Amino acid sequence: MHILITGSSGQIGTNLGLFLQAKGHQVFGVDIRPNAWTTEIETLLQDLSKPYNSFAGGIGHVQYPPNIDLVVHFAAHAKVHQLVQQPERALENITMTYNVLEYCRQNNIPVIFSSSREVYGDIHRYITEESYADFAFTESPYSASKISGEALIYSYAQCYGLRYLVFRFSNVYGRYDNDIHRMLRVIPHFIRQISQDKPITVYGKEKVLDFTYVDDCVAGVYAGIEKLVGGEIANHTINLAFGQGNSLVQMAEYISEALGKKLDMTIKPSRVGEVTHYVANVGKARALLDYTPQVSLREGIHKAAAWSMDWWQEHPEHYYAGFQEVLE
Ligand SMILES: NC(=O)c1ccc[n+]([C@@H]2O[C@H](COP(=O)([O-])OP(=O)(O)OC[C@H]3O[C@@H](n4cnc5c(N)ncnc54)[C@H](O)[C@@H]3O)[C@@H](O)[C@H]2O)c1
Repeated sequence: MHILITGSSGQIGTNLGLFLQAKGHQVFGVDIRPNAWTTEIETLLQDLSKPYNSFAGGIGHVQYPPNIDLVVHFAAHAKVHQLVQQPERALENITMTYNVLEYCRQNNIPVIFSSSREVYGDIHRYITEESYADFAFTESPYSASKISGEALIYSYAQCYGLRYLVFRFSNVYGRYDNDIHRMLRVIPHFIRQISQDKPITVYGKEKVLDFTYVDDCVAGVYAGIEKLVGGEIANHTINLAFGQGNSLVQMAEYISEALGKKLDMTIKPSRVGEVTHYVANVGKARALLDYTPQVSLREGIHKAAAWSMDWWQEHPEHYYAGFQEVLE
C-alpha cells in the first residue's frame, strides 16, 4: 500500500510509519518539521494549517505520487493545556483537517483521523460508548478541535461519499515521545525527573485515565488500515485504548519501581480543561478489528522507562536540558 501520514514526525506517526515500512508498505510523510527520530520516513515539510495544498512541492520539494491508497491524518497541535493558553491553535487543527479532507475528496482517497477521548468531555463515568459525545461538555479548545474534525469528516461522508475511520485515542505513550525540548509529556517527564532523583507534581490525585502503549495503538490503527483499504469496513468511530483505568499516582509509582528510585511526589488539583476520568470501552475495536491490547500499564511503563533511559544516554543534551512547564 501507499500510505500518506500527516504528522509523520510526531510520536504515533513515527511509530506507525516505521511499522508500515517494516510490513513492506510505502510511507509518505507530511509534517511542519523534520523527523527527529529517524531518517527512514520521507517527509514533505509543509504547514498544513495554511490554505489547501496538494502535497506537491512544499518546502521539501518532494513530489508525492498520485496513487495514494489512504491518508492517515495525525497532524495536530496535540497538547490540551497548551491550547487552553493558545486557542488559535485549535482553529489551526480544524483547518488542517479541512485541508486533508479536501485532498481526500479531490483524489477519492479514504482517511483515518486521530480523534481523542477528549470528545467525551469530563464525564466521570467508568465506561464510554462511541455513540455518545455530548458537545455541551466540551472541556477545552483542543476537545473542540477534535469534535470539529470529526464533524467535518461525517459531513464529507454524507455529502461526498468519503470513506473513513475515526479513532479516539487515549494517553498514548512509549517510544519517540521523550523529545522534551519540543513537548513535555507527563510520562517521559516523570521518567526523567524520577531518574534524576527530582520531585514530581501530579495534577489531580483523583485523575484516572486509560493509558495506551504505543504498540497497541499502532496495531489497532494498522488493523483499521487493512480493513478500510481492503473495503471490509468503513465509516466507523472507534475507541482505541487499553480499556483499563489507572491513576497518575499509580503510573508514577510504576516509574519509580521500573527505575528503582524513590518517589518525591507533590499532589495538586487538576487544571482547567483537563479530563479527570476516562476508561475506554474497547468492545467496538475488538469486534471490528479483532483488537486485543497486549501491554498493561505496568509492563508498558517498564518498557517506556528502559527505552527513554537508553535514548537519553545517546542524547544527554536532552536529558539535562531545562524545561519550562509540564504541559500535559
Ligand atoms: N498521543 C496521545 O496520547 C493522543 C491522544 C489522543 C489523540 N491524539 C492525536 O493523535 C495524533 C498524533 O498524536 P501524537 O502524540 O503523535 O502527536 P505529536 O504532537 O507527537 O505529533 C503531531 C505532529 O503534527 C505536526 N504538526 C503540528 N502542526 C502542524 C502543521 N501546521 N502542519 C503540519 N504538521 C503539523 C507536529 O509537528 C507533530 O509532528 C494527534 O492528532 C493527536 O491530537 C494523540
